[in-house]
Amino acid sequence: MFFLQNGMRLLRYVRASYKCRCKSNAPLSTLKNKLKQGPGLKEFIVNSSEVPEVITHPPHIPYLPDNIQNTSKRRVYFDVYGCQMNLNDTEIVWSILKNEGFEKTEVEEEADIFLVMTCAIREGAENKIWHRLDHLRGFKNRRALSKNRNNPVKIGILGCMAERLKEKLIEKEKAVDVVAGPDSYRDLPRLLALTESGQTAVNVLLSLDETYADVVPVRLNQNNISAFISIMRGCDNMCTYCIVPFTRGRERSRPVSSIVDEVRHLSESGVKEVTLLGQNVNSYRDVTQPTEKFDTHLAEGFKTVYKNKKGGLRFADLLDKVSSVDPEMRIRFTAAHPKDFPDEVLRLVRERANVCKSVHLPAQAGSSAVLARMRRGYGRAAYLRLVQRVRAAVPGVGLSTDMICGFCGETDEEFEETLSLMDIVEYNVAFLFPYSMREKTTAYRRYKDDVPESVKKERHSRMIELYRRKCQKLNDAEIGNVHLVLVEGVVPKTGQIMGRNEFYIKVVFDQTEIPSEEGMRRAQPGDYVGVRIVSARCSVLTGVPLYHTTIREFYKEYSWGERAALRI
Ligand code: SAH
Ligand code: SF4
Ligand code: F3S
Repeated sequence: MFFLQNGMRLLRYVRASYKCRCKSNAPLSTLKNKLKQGPGLKEFIVNSSEVPEVITHPPHIPYLPDNIQNTSKRRVYFDVYGCQMNLNDTEIVWSILKNEGFEKTEVEEEADIFLVMTCAIREGAENKIWHRLDHLRGFKNRRALSKNRNNPVKIGILGCMAERLKEKLIEKEKAVDVVAGPDSYRDLPRLLALTESGQTAVNVLLSLDETYADVVPVRLNQNNISAFISIMRGCDNMCTYCIVPFTRGRERSRPVSSIVDEVRHLSESGVKEVTLLGQNVNSYRDVTQPTEKFDTHLAEGFKTVYKNKKGGLRFADLLDKVSSVDPEMRIRFTAAHPKDFPDEVLRLVRERANVCKSVHLPAQAGSSAVLARMRRGYGRAAYLRLVQRVRAAVPGVGLSTDMICGFCGETDEEFEETLSLMDIVEYNVAFLFPYSMREKTTAYRRYKDDVPESVKKERHSRMIELYRRKCQKLNDAEIGNVHLVLVEGVVPKTGQIMGRNEFYIKVVFDQTEIPSEEGMRRAQPGDYVGVRIVSARCSVLTGVPLYHTTIREFYKEYSWGERAALRI
């Protein structure tokens, strides 16, 4: 089985190289050399069994001819699906393409290339993308028959679904010209150039060290006052339900210096909020920095599937540096896996006024048996102890979670434990999902997707109902309190101003002039405003703006803990 699996992988790479050979007209000797430079059997053995297929980032991409000229100076239309990492990845792609002279458009009719940044996390997420591809195929066919037919449309599929389906995407969706996985975006100009002569091009190699650290992402919307920064890529956790380790490869961290430089650059260009992204920010390690060797903190009841990291700068070191760049820039981070949450990070959340007092602590389930089947590395009791520790360290902290219902073998009693955990913890924000079986995962191989769809649906509705009731209660308790709101823009329908509070909950208020240091003026995107909450729904608070302020001014009088205790 082992050799069969690895043999299949090898075959796939050989097929990928063969594809390019047909099209490049390169002499056979050159191609043999290229094959030699590609991944050998060693890489496949090293990365066999449960870990996803990865190879060390090659000095150059081995399967493409070198003589490709980047003749394209064409207009690209981006479609982004999936998580915030995909948004940041799209900005990396746009930076790479812009550098090569490509242009960007938001008008479909003007586009020559459609790049779809995809997600594979659940079947539903992929279905949305298949629908979009139906539309794009129609668009491509119409262009081929129009008077503009000399300018054919190209379609590229990027991201996690590209990595999951690889060449199968082209076989299934004939209109697709390029398939590029999350670690091959540097190669996109060449892949796109290959399509100029009607070829298809695939690069789905995963890397051990690609972090795009030297690529400065170009923001798709320059007016946004907030930005996302990927501080690491991949995931080594191998939760049994999750496709991410297979689509994004092994975990690797971007050096602190490159992240801090980016934050500084964003601050100088007027960005007021950055969210640091990783599948588990607590396992961040910048190993390019020599440091003392300390162990990963694992509290009682928590374990991890991979070896503890010993040296390098940790997430606490990064958060310390990032939050020191600009005291008026809000810092958020996500996701924080419960298994290795260190006290140093909690201390920074409490002490730094500009680090938002909200922690995304995905529980996934409330039953220890389900959590064990999910291979989360903790049980119910350990998770609840962590919640207490977080609340003790940062009084008034907002908590958010992800929850899955209907995982393999989940009984009614086990599901009730998920509801009771949600009841006890009282999350301010929750992302709730019915389980969706993904090929390749351990659950796919080991368990049965035996909870009927109707039961998953019913459990999902019950989670949503409980969550809404709980967050309504929490939000009602905020009526009368003054929140620090970072203004994002205007609600198109109502003309009201929209911003977000510390917990990332939307706050809306009417446009009026309010006092500032320079006199009375209206709120603009990027302003901090003190807003008294007057009414609440689950996902949005309504308030009355009181004054313009700054983070430091707002928290001058009381520390966060005192404010939370006084319920100001
Ligand atoms: N690294 C993050 C999660 C990223 S994926 C973390 O560990 O928190 C985002 C969320 O999608 C997960 O937290 C999980 O709740 C959900 N998810 C992942 N795989 C899923 C699946 N197969 N079916 C349903 N939901 C899933
Ligand atoms: Fe998926 Fe688990 Fe990694 Fe999150 S920590 S990305 S849920 S494998
Ligand atoms: Fe989806 Fe990939 Fe993000 S599967 S959730 S886009 S990491």
